[in-house]
Amino acid sequence: DQGSDLVVVANRLPVDRKVAADGTATWKPSPGGLVSALEPVMQRNSGAWVGWTGQPGDAPEPFEARGIHLIPVELSKKDVEDFYEGMSNGALWPLYHDVIAQPQFHRHWWESYVRVNRRFAEKAAENSAENALVWVQDYQLQLVPQMLRALRPDLRIAFFNHIPFPPYEIFAQLPWRRQVLDGLLGADQLGFQRPADANNFLRACRRNGLATRRGLVHLPAEPRFGSPDHHPSREVRAAAFPISIDAEQVAALGQRPDIQERAREIRRELGDPKVVLLGVDRLDYTKGILHRLKAVEELFAEEVLSPPDAVLVQVATPSRDRVEEYEKMKRDVEVTVGRINGDYGQLGHPAVHYLHQSQDREELAALYLAADVMLVTPLRDGMNLVAKEYVATRHDEQGALVLSEFAGAAIELPQAFLINPHDIDGVKAAIVRAAGLSPREATRRMRAMRRRVFEFDVARWASTFLKVAASAAEPSTPGR
Ligand code: UDP
Ligand code: G6P
Repeated sequence: DQGSDLVVVANRLPVDRKVAADGTATWKPSPGGLVSALEPVMQRNSGAWVGWTGQPGDAPEPFEARGIHLIPVELSKKDVEDFYEGMSNGALWPLYHDVIAQPQFHRHWWESYVRVNRRFAEKAAENSAENALVWVQDYQLQLVPQMLRALRPDLRIAFFNHIPFPPYEIFAQLPWRRQVLDGLLGADQLGFQRPADANNFLRACRRNGLATRRGLVHLPAEPRFGSPDHHPSREVRAAAFPISIDAEQVAALGQRPDIQERAREIRRELGDPKVVLLGVDRLDYTKGILHRLKAVEELFAEEVLSPPDAVLVQVATPSRDRVEEYEKMKRDVEVTVGRINGDYGQLGHPAVHYLHQSQDREELAALYLAADVMLVTPLRDGMNLVAKEYVATRHDEQGALVLSEFAGAAIELPQAFLINPHDIDGVKAAIVRAAGLSPREATRRMRAMRRRVFEFDVARWASTFLKVAASAAEPSTPGR
């Protein structure tokens, strides 16, 4: 086997293996925006995807699924606890999202992170063709670029960070900050969501004594006499490449007659309200679900919006539920939804319809079509693809988007009702304006947002990034 010319390395494969109590296994699409964005890219480019099946202790042979060659990496139960739930989601995730939750730093988590990153690097090294482009994804695998370069100096290595890269004052808390920078700097090209993220990274490099200029980090030569790892100076590029969605594919769902019928049925099932508010998120403390519930609860209390004429549908997909902060957040959301329904619901007509279940793409498209106001209120979010999906689905050019200025998507969607989720009065005012929007003004805003999402779709994101990454490193430069 020659290996592939394009290899994606991500913590998760695009499919997630679920084993039922009776031992039967089924595959489902994996949760989250990384997979939503990269799956259509990899379906169009032939290549391989190295990742975990989502099931502890599981390592099937490589297989094909959803039109992609998948190469599983095993995570033991202990790896899941220390590398995935611990270092990745108990330390790095909160640290990189503005310490909304308190990061925990444990040395045994870090040791597991190093071991598991090495395993991913080895798997990628074994499955890459000569001079292949290996594209490493996200915060779980920041050491892979450096490890892979040591194993396979012929490869071109790129890295994309799907989540924010924090300001140095926050990043500096990480006990292993230098190792993480060195890990990332093993790549030829680094991609971030926003220019601010790329700048935060470049600043972190400067603060650690590395020279940077115009998006380049200059790595000095490391002369080690008599050592085979002697390498000359090298430059690493870092820039912003805002990720997107397969707008055509998402829009096609919104055009399907059965999905449009389902949207009408959803409104009937909700009791034909005048205003349907919608939230769609992983159940994550970065998403601002409690802030949003507080705003809606106050609008109900003040009778500015009155159930059953106005209802909120909140889809909150289960996520990382063994991590302490997620367990706590789940309880807080449940208590809040229960309180709102107790105070403002009627028999057969809850005020908040809360679904702690993952919805498939068809059902989500129907929900987007059924919603008058889409609420996207994260406290910090790398991009937020749900906002772009809502816009792409609305071929009728109706509906309104309330969007946090702390989501990467806000840069591209200024025609949304931009809010600061911490400012509850501001969120309330935006919801009221969005709910009362004239059809004409709705069209004006939606049309502009749709133009942007269709022009800068995920195919354009990937081709721009891959072109830059391919030119960043000339393959087989001697002594590189
Ligand atoms: N999603 C889904 N089913 C659900 C909830 C969400 O398929 O029940 C998808 C949604 O369509 C989107 C992705 O999950 O493509 C979430 O991406 P986003 O960037 O908004 O947030 P992330 O989960 O990556 O933080
Ligand atoms: C975000 C992250 C991804 C992650 C996804 C789902 O999109 O950027 O790296 O895969 O959330 O989270 P999970 O922990 O279930 O993989």
